[in-house]
Amino acid sequence: MLPSFTLPLEAAAFLQQYWQKKPLFMPGAATGLDVPDADTLAGLALEDGVESRIITGAGKGPWALRQGPFEESVFSELGERDWTLLVQSVDHYLTETSLLLDSFAFLPGWRLEDIMMSYAAKGGSVGPHFDRYDVFLIQAAGSRRWQLGDVCDENSPRLTHPDLKLLAEMPVREEFVARPGDVLYVPPGVAHHGVAEDSDCLTWSVGFRAPDYQMLMAEIAGECLADADSELFTDPNRQVPANPAVLADADRQQLIRGALELLQPASMERALYRWLSTPRLDGLEFAVDDDHIRQRDPSVALVRHGSVRLILQGNVAWLNGEPHSLTEQQRPLVQLLARQRRYARDELDAVMQPAGKELLHDWIEQGFFAPL
Ligand code: SIN
Ligand code: CO
Repeated sequence: MLPSFTLPLEAAAFLQQYWQKKPLFMPGAATGLDVPDADTLAGLALEDGVESRIITGAGKGPWALRQGPFEESVFSELGERDWTLLVQSVDHYLTETSLLLDSFAFLPGWRLEDIMMSYAAKGGSVGPHFDRYDVFLIQAAGSRRWQLGDVCDENSPRLTHPDLKLLAEMPVREEFVARPGDVLYVPPGVAHHGVAEDSDCLTWSVGFRAPDYQMLMAEIAGECLADADSELFTDPNRQVPANPAVLADADRQQLIRGALELLQPASMERALYRWLSTPRLDGLEFAVDDDHIRQRDPSVALVRHGSVRLILQGNVAWLNGEPHSLTEQQRPLVQLLARQRRYARDELDAVMQPAGKELLHDWIEQGFFAPL
């Protein structure tokens, strides 16, 4: 079994009742979560370029955060209790885990951020906190007690800690014990605290991205400026000013209009697609475990590498931040490649034409897709 998740209710009902509104505990909603094991996860935390953290602490603290990459010896120093190893974007490195994301097709693909994984010893947790993003917390091994609190915001009292944003208090409103296969959806802002009930507690967090408009504006400005020619303010019809010390209305309007004219819709859209199709971290150097995928699902003939983002904009395919113009022959193939992450032979055959084959060959050469 490859990793998969099934909503226990109609997708439309989930979106209407829970998405961005309230938590939902879904016992037994996920399967196929046996890979990676703790050793593989710990191995990733030793690698340069992989974002990893170790958080130690429990109850009233003290809490401590260490950032990876780590030396192997760190794991023998941690002791028996009260620590958690977190590895970000595991789906970028282990393509087989990224295949879980096909189960989230009830939301647009661009909304997905990554899969973070946590491995905790008994008592381990990251402390009571809230996130600004939606998250599906999927128990893969061991058990974790989740406590949910109220909706919080930037004004909610926090512990003073240089590195961790932990809530000073979290009145418990709901409690669940998640066992392997159980899934807890937590919307942005809802306080939560998950404590490992036993050692070998492994939790996958499917995190969603909510673009920050300030960052988006910075991307748009960058793209528009790169596209624009330098043009200076001119005033050949200047009249003698009533007061040379003030900025006259007409001048102010002309200056603002001139700046806003740089925001051309085509450049703005390009910025958006470039940004949304740029992976969070690069993971292409990590090989796809094709044996593992083939064993779990022999019908898979091709997979998209876990670190690849692919979004279509009409005749243009945006792949990892770069645009590719598509011919008519290539379009049906790329539509399939963008819609899902694993492909059966007959699905590919149904959309494959010579020009598509050539493009796919190039993308396989560059490591974006892997044949099995
Ligand atoms: C965890 O997996 O331990 C923490 C994830 C979270 O609370 O967001
Ligand atoms: Co959280």
